[in-house]
Amino acid sequence: MDRQTLHRTLSPHGRSRVARRFRVFYFITVLSGLAAVIIETMNGLPAWLQILTAATNIAVAVLFCIEWALRIYVAPEEWLMEARRARLQYLTSPAGLIDLFAAAALPLGIAVGLRQDDQPLFCVLWVLKFVRYSAGLSMVGRVIRSELAALTSVLTVFSVVLLTSATLAHLLERERQAEAFGSIPAAMWWAIVTLTTTGYGDVVPLTVGGRIVGGFVMVSGIAVFAMWAGILANGFAVELRRRSFLRTWDLVSRVPLFADLGSTVIADIVHQLRVEEMRAGTVVFRRGQIGDRMYFIVSGRVRIELTPTPIELGEGAFFGEFALITGAPRSATVTIVENAELLVLDIADFRDLAVKRPELTQAIHAEADRRRATPVATPPSSSDGA
Ligand code: CMP
Repeated sequence: MDRQTLHRTLSPHGRSRVARRFRVFYFITVLSGLAAVIIETMNGLPAWLQILTAATNIAVAVLFCIEWALRIYVAPEEWLMEARRARLQYLTSPAGLIDLFAAAALPLGIAVGLRQDDQPLFCVLWVLKFVRYSAGLSMVGRVIRSELAALTSVLTVFSVVLLTSATLAHLLERERQAEAFGSIPAAMWWAIVTLTTTGYGDVVPLTVGGRIVGGFVMVSGIAVFAMWAGILANGFAVELRRRSFLRTWDLVSRVPLFADLGSTVIADIVHQLRVEEMRAGTVVFRRGQIGDRMYFIVSGRVRIELTPTPIELGEGAFFGEFALITGAPRSATVTIVENAELLVLDIADFRDLAVKRPELTQAIHAEADRRRATPVATPPSSSDGA
């Protein structure tokens, strides 16, 4: 395997079968390593389980060492610069440091002189190995970065309420509970437990004033966390929309019919198209069904069951347009023959497009006319119907 192929295999975005298999293997490795570390901390394990967990830890640590070495080797494919600089770039990047730490976790436990049963404890940090491959986790990072200003202002409100309430509680309660409220830092423990609505109940205000402050802090806590939740939920929604927009954009620009339209028109169309992935063998629709959408093939192949000779359509082609143009039932059954990524255009959006982008629907009409002139499809029979 050459360096470029190896890089594609190790990349979280690799789409080849080997890359997908590597990702499954990688997840199983991390999960087994973590399971072994967790189980090892339990008391009274049978000897065979102790041996198994220890062996798993060593095997996983060795695999991470090999992975780290391979990533150093392929680094020049990731950062297109001189090989030594690219490798240094990888070694000092957050991902490189996580990989280094994962590879060194077990020896590190031994080096810092932990007890023999505690030596694998550093391996809990193997959980960080998920970061690189988890789209969800990197999304959390992006959401936090994009909402940082709003989150910081809520944090400021939180700090103001925390400090004010701790100061007031200190003034009101210090006479009666010198230990818990004798200083502002001591009163802060009560304030934070109350503000976060955790309420351990280990310290409670006894004076009327203290209780009024307590009530105010509880309500403020709910408000602050509601604001935080709202900001994060909105950030996630925006990020999800952005990702789906980018993905659809990428797919739309791969369909020749749209590719020539220019970015402004594509941006318009992206909102009207939906991505659907279908596996080989799936029936997209059957002859005789009512058709309310058409499909553009981004990747994969479909078979139009025309009689007597079915035909196959591949990347860039579209199907299902007859039903939208004429309102007639589907003229043929369509099945997926090779795993496919399709863009779906619903009938309402097709009509909308006909008004906004007549040149596009004209191209679809022209292709439909050409296909109709090829008289291979037979009329629907009741036995094939939906
Ligand atoms: P529709 O009738 O909605 O559903 C079946 C689809 O098969 C049809 O739209 C066309 O998109 C496609 N189809 C039918 N006949 C042909 C043909 N001769 N060549 C290519 N595609 C066809």
